[in-house]
Amino acid sequence: MIDDSINYEYILRYIHDVLPKQEGLLAELEKFAKEHEVPISQPETIKMLEVLIKLGGRKNILEVGSAIGYSAVRMAMANPEAEIQTIEINHDVAEYAKRTFKRAGLSDRIRLTEGDANVVLPQFAADEMKFDMIFVDAAKAQYLNFFEPCMNMLVCGGLLVSDNILYKGMTATDELVLHRKRTIVKRLRGYIDMLCSHPQLDTAVLPVGDGVALSYRSV
Ligand SMILES: C[S@@+](CC[C@H](N)C(=O)[O-])C[C@H]1O[C@@H](n2cnc3c(N)ncnc32)[C@H](O)[C@@H]1O
Repeated sequence: MIDDSINYEYILRYIHDVLPKQEGLLAELEKFAKEHEVPISQPETIKMLEVLIKLGGRKNILEVGSAIGYSAVRMAMANPEAEIQTIEINHDVAEYAKRTFKRAGLSDRIRLTEGDANVVLPQFAADEMKFDMIFVDAAKAQYLNFFEPCMNMLVCGGLLVSDNILYKGMTATDELVLHRKRTIVKRLRGYIDMLCSHPQLDTAVLPVGDGVALSYRSV
């Protein structure tokens, strides 16, 4: 295994080798993220997002957790007609992301709202904003709190993508759970159970990246 990865090292190396390497701004962002330990989604997760966006012609996308703007740029580039609304709690990181969007020439299609998603999501829902795809990639312990407003904003036929749900394998087995992570793991398990049994959702739990739940809103 590589570090805390949930997949075998040889599988991951192979996947990372076959995926096209990024250039220019995106390569620079990847380097910055690595050097400054900014968590961005794994290459295989981002590639899956791009395919899902193209496959469904997703146009109105909400992201919870922008970090330096890497995934938002990749998602915007996957569909030239897509508009991305992204939320970030950390001021410095949000400022960096805004610069990223400008540099990418995507400021007109990516809008960042700085704030706590626990506050911002209910405001968006109250404003009756609607999205055909929602990518949740923020504090894992809070996914359950984000769910209700996200569900209110997800159209029928919409896709909710939740990242890091297997959390280095800890979600799947008590043997890996670090003592200080017990609460997060418990909440993630509750979140996955809720997604899998929700009457309006069809959910696939996939061992991609750090674990991804794909939830299709059918009703
Ligand atoms: C894993 S990073 C996002 C990575 C990004 N989606 C990418 O792949 O390029 C998670 C981000 O969520 C932000 N975050 C955590 N809790 C949040 C909250 N309650 N509201 C908004 N943002 C939050 C963190 O500051 C961090 O920048």
